[in-house]
Amino acid sequence: MIKFSAPGKIHLLGEHAVVYGKPALLAAIDLRATVTIESQTGHLSGKEYLRKIIEPIVKKSLSIKKIPPYKLTIASQIPTGSGLGSSAAISTAYIAALLSFLKVEWDLSLINDLTYKAEEVFHGNPSGGDNSTIVFGGLIWFRKESPELKIIHPIDFSIPPQLSKNFILINTGTPKESTKEMVEKVKKLNDRNPKVVNRFLEDQEVLVRELLSVIKDGNENRLIQIIKAGEENLESIGVVSPYVTSVIRKIEKAGGAAKICGAGGKTKATGILLAYHPKKATLEKVAELNNLPCFNTSLGVEGIRIEK
Ligand code: PMV
Repeated sequence: MIKFSAPGKIHLLGEHAVVYGKPALLAAIDLRATVTIESQTGHLSGKEYLRKIIEPIVKKSLSIKKIPPYKLTIASQIPTGSGLGSSAAISTAYIAALLSFLKVEWDLSLINDLTYKAEEVFHGNPSGGDNSTIVFGGLIWFRKESPELKIIHPIDFSIPPQLSKNFILINTGTPKESTKEMVEKVKKLNDRNPKVVNRFLEDQEVLVRELLSVIKDGNENRLIQIIKAGEENLESIGVVSPYVTSVIRKIEKAGGAAKICGAGGKTKATGILLAYHPKKATLEKVAELNNLPCFNTSLGVEGIRIEK
């Protein structure tokens, strides 16, 4: 029996801008997807949709025609469609398990490349930030210079405990719009009004760069200001619904900050919010008053790993 698990991810900042070649800072989170493969003969069923996407990618990469029959089991703690990289985590663990089943030598870059190909099937034209964070884990500085050249730089420090203990994730629900649709929406805005998108890209780059040093130094006041400014920028390109905007304003009024993580949504739900407050209980209260589930998370956990 072969078992691998992969974490979910969040964008600390840089989503959408990353599609246009700007840097993003991402963190692996401690919700994991686990995939088990067992060799099996006879009739096979289940997970056909996923098998049909992953198997051709693996076969093509290894130049093989057939994969021996196996039983596939998937268990995931990561909510789907909410900006936590659920599909990339399942693909990563599945690909790692399949490569191990086929006795391919352990190679993180190969797992990452193949997961990116799976993400292309799911999302159209992804930046590659999600899969890179899920495969390598920790905090990742990601930048797509060109389709062939992606900078995936693991950050060699972690978020200091006095900051990391005050983050929570708030679930606003699954957005009506897919990541593909939201990326397309920004593209249309860029065609129509490049000035707005250019300003967003420039501002977000400055903030992402500063966020990195603020996290390192543990500067709480500046962290709150950056999350707030980053969120306002995301609102300026229309990826945060009026409903979620109003929840975020309540968090800000209470002295905290929150932002969407990932593609967002325009109708109502936008997926997960990353929220920060010097007193975390305040965030839990705002979430409760708005009937939104929230949970603690560790930021910067281990990437793909084998499970016993
Ligand atoms: O919503 P998610 O988890 O699929 O993240 C999407 C992030 C984007 O920057 C909007 C798209 C991308 O491919 O990076």
